[in-house]
Amino acid sequence: MKILATLLLSSFSLMALSQFQSSQVCKKCHPIIYKEHFASQHRKASIYDDAIHKAVWDKHPLKKKGVYKCAKCHTPNDQKLIEALKNNQHAMPTENKAQHEGVSCVSCHNIVNIERHSKSNTNITTRNKKLLFSARQSEKNISDKKYETKKSMFGFMTKQSGSPFHEINFTNELYYNGNVCMGCHSHKENAHGLKVCETTIAPDANSEKENCITCHMPKVEGSFSTMTESKTHRFHGFSGAIHKPKMLSKYIHLNFKQQEKGFAITIKNKASHPLMLHPLRVATLNVTLISNKQKIKLQPHTFVRVIGTKNKPSPPWTATQVLHNTQLKGKESRTIHYNTQLHTGDEIVVTFGYYIVNPKMAPKLKLEKYSDFVILKQERFYVK
Ligand code: HEC
Ligand code: HEC
Ligand code: HEC
Ligand code: HEC
Ligand code: HEC
Repeated sequence: MKILATLLLSSFSLMALSQFQSSQVCKKCHPIIYKEHFASQHRKASIYDDAIHKAVWDKHPLKKKGVYKCAKCHTPNDQKLIEALKNNQHAMPTENKAQHEGVSCVSCHNIVNIERHSKSNTNITTRNKKLLFSARQSEKNISDKKYETKKSMFGFMTKQSGSPFHEINFTNELYYNGNVCMGCHSHKENAHGLKVCETTIAPDANSEKENCITCHMPKVEGSFSTMTESKTHRFHGFSGAIHKPKMLSKYIHLNFKQQEKGFAITIKNKASHPLMLHPLRVATLNVTLISNKQKIKLQPHTFVRVIGTKNKPSPPWTATQVLHNTQLKGKESRTIHYNTQLHTGDEIVVTFGYYIVNPKMAPKLKLEKYSDFVILKQERFYVK
């Protein structure tokens, strides 16, 4: 282990900063996390790896102007592109390594602070690129953990601590309360002052006990590094609408209650934010009644926030108003009544899920492939 560390140390010190920025260098010592991140939507956030992002970008007025402002959140590690944007130059993505890394490891682990703005927030990153931020309760007071080796057992054993590749700062509260996500996820406002999307957090739903990290990065099996043994690590696949949604099913509760006239279904959204978050999505509650071996599909119920202008739905960049909003709010319970009469022995199948791309918008964006229904939660109830 000691030889390995020394070898790695000398080869890494020759590396240019741009190489340091690449997620690939983290792979050597954090292979499990690297693999999870590689499969995540964060890694695939560029127009080269996300067909939905590309389809919307292709229609966006900024494309004609030649300024890919999306880079701020979708490919923040493409230094050249970010510099060009800062200098108000022509700034269009070209296929390169940084694009394929999307929201890379250092895009998050270099964040020092979040600046609040009305258009969208901004991540303030560290100038010392070799300093990474993270969370570890037991070392919360350490701001510059360096690599150290100590001899013990009469010099036969070497104990190491820290990373030979980077320093670690464990003191930043953002990594404990989930606010590190809010530079990119908080909100986005268009040119007309309308919040196109917003991760509004339910009151009292943002603590160290429960936040973006605890739900979207649960502890899963496997060591976080090859150089130190740990039983678990934080899942870096970031389960969401596209990748591994089933990991989040437990935050949706469905309940059935028979009533004098028909029945009621109650859906509880245990997420701290509205469902869904992206304006392209539509959440739907489907109920099928199975009676006498006959399947009867009842009227689906949709939960959606529609934005538009002059009382008509429109693309996000021209929208000036919210036309209607039936989204489930964070932590909300909503009861929907059905006046269909039930009989003993009937079965009721209740399904909550969503379309990644609203089927009404899919043909316009040529994204029919993404308008299938994704099931997030399904329950069966029986009439006694
Ligand atoms: C040469 C091996 C090596 C490389 C390369 C490496 N790390 Fe590490 N990293 C470690 C070790 C070892 C630790 C554990 C240090 C300790 O606390 O004792 C660590 C710890 C961390 C932590 C903090 C862990 C915690 O408990 O919160 C983060 C975050 C991290 N690394 C991110 C990265 C990123 C991002 C990269 C790529 C830019 C990277 N590492 C590259 C070896 C490495
Ligand atoms: C302030 C940060 C920010 C900026 C700037 C930004 N986005 Fe995003 N975008 C996000 C976040 C965060 C998500 C994930 C939201 C979600 O899944 O609900 C996202 C998701 C998307 C999606 C859905 C992706 C999918 O796979 O379904 C599309 C499409 C999209 N953005 C288009 C754009 C375009 C086009 C631009 C530039 C004109 C842009 N975004 C600029 C933060 C941003
Ligand atoms: C540097 C900007 C940035 C930061 C910081 C960031 N995200 Fe994201 N996130 C994005 C973008 C952009 C997308 C959309 C990617 C796409 O689909 O094109 C996204 C997508 C997601 C998704 C949807 C995944 C899916 O499969 O649908 C989840 C969940 C998510 N982020 C959670 C988090 C959490 C939790 C944090 C904080 C620990 C975080 N993000 C920090 C930019 C960011
Ligand atoms: C979207 C933001 C985001 C991205 C991208 C990201 N991380 Fe993390 N990572 C976090 C946060 C937040 C934590 C702290 C979670 C905690 O311990 O409470 C963390 C924790 C860690 C830890 C230590 C804790 C553990 O148990 O897992 C390591 C090591 C790490 N990250 C390495 C990486 C590497 C390597 C990459 C790229 C392959 C990466 N991260 C990409 C946000 C991110
Ligand atoms: C109590 C658990 C919980 C907490 C806390 C939580 N989420 Fe979620 N999140 C969910 C569930 C459940 C979904 C819906 C499942 C899905 O998208 O497949 C979701 C979906 C998402 C999506 C995808 C939505 C879309 O329309 O594409 C993003 C992005 C996201 N969460 C980001 C965040 C961020 C950022 C935070 C912190 C402010 C956060 N979440 C806090 C449970 C949680």
